[in-house]
Order: sequence, then C-alpha cells, then structure tokens
Amino acid sequence: MPVPDDAVSPADAVPKAAVTQRQRWAVETMAVAPDDRLLEIGCGRGVAVSLVARRLTTGRIVAIDRSATMVRLAAERNAGHVESGRAEIRQAGFESADLQSRSFTKIFAVNVNLFWLGAAAAQIGRMRDLLVPGGRLYVFGERPTPAHATANLRSTERLLRAQGFETTASVAAGVRGRLLTCVTGTVID
Ligand SMILES: C[S@@+](CC[C@H](N)C(=O)[O-])C[C@H]1O[C@@H](n2cnc3c(N)ncnc32)[C@H](O)[C@@H]1O
Repeated sequence: MPVPDDAVSPADAVPKAAVTQRQRWAVETMAVAPDDRLLEIGCGRGVAVSLVARRLTTGRIVAIDRSATMVRLAAERNAGHVESGRAEIRQAGFESADLQSRSFTKIFAVNVNLFWLGAAAAQIGRMRDLLVPGGRLYVFGERPTPAHATANLRSTERLLRAQGFETTASVAAGVRGRLLTCVTGTVID
C-alpha cells in the first residue's frame, strides 16, 4: 500500500506536521520546473521526492541516501515515479556516489548533516562540479531557535562562498516555534 506524503513513524523525533511542512517549503522554495534535473542528498523516506516528481514532465530526480532502510521506504513511497522514470532512488553516500559532472540543474538536501562531519570543502566542490552552469544548490535545515538558525545560516553561507558560490539565506516559520532555513548557492564563474 502506498505511504501517504505526511506519514512518519511514531519513533520520529519531530511531529508529523513538521516533516510535511519542511518538505513542502523546500520544494516550493526551489520552484521546481517540469524539466529540472535534480539531485537530493539524504532523501530519508522520500517525502520530497514525491513532491518534486509530481511536478516533473521531462525532468528527473535522482535521490540518494546511505541508509538501506531509508532507500527501501523511499522506493516504496515513490514506486510509481520510479516506474515512470521520473525518479531514481539509490543507496549511496554522497562522498562515493557515482554521479555525472554537470548533470543537475538543482541539488538539495533537507536536514542532512553534510558539512559538519567530514571534509566540507571537498563535498561542496563536488556539488559545484555536478551542477550545470547556472545551476543551484539548496541547503535546507530546521532549527529550534533564532540563534541556532542564524548560526547555521552564517556558517553554511561562509562554506559555500569559499567554494565559489554566491549565496542568499531565507527563513520561514516552522511548527512549534521551530525555524526553517535555506541557503541557496549559485555558482559564480
Ligand atoms: C535527518 S535525515 C533527513 C531525511 C529527509 N531529508 C528529511 O528531511 O526528512 C538525514 C538523512 O540523510 C542521510 N545521509 C546523511 N549523510 C549522508 C550522505 N553523506 N550521503 C547520503 N545520505 C546521507 C541519512 O542516512 C538520513 O536518512
């Protein structure tokens, strides 16, 4: 049976509404076009994949997650989109994923600890290489307080700028006083 967009197990730390809201905000912020070619890093259960794929016609989304369980859940949720060729869901860590240079118009991650655990510069450099000229990178987060949001936005912008991105930051109100954050990076040549 297909899993609804807002489904989340009782074990999840944040309320169901927060999951749906942050994914919806992310997809709206990216203004997904029908012919976009997107990469999602850390797709989890594939909620954003569903929201993106239904906006695509000739476009495509590749979603990766290093967790086999998450990939299985995301693939189940998006079976129809995978079948139609609009979505591809793969088990892979971003660091070692087999992805083609200059093949994505948009790369995004929602609530993924991408830059803090490893070599941030190398990761961001690879994202830059995977984007087509004029492509965009979106780093979405969800923070408990304004101070956390500001600190995260500043450090993410600093990291992206150091790798040749021009950045803008945006914030929206989340559920239970949480804040949704996004840093958008555009490559400057
Ligand atoms: C907190 S969950 C967020 C899932 C989903 N994006 C969301 O907003 O609900 C983070 C996910 O990113 C995946 N992940 C973390 N680092 C990753 C990496 N370097 N490459 C691929 N997946 C990664 C984890 O396995 C996990 O499923």
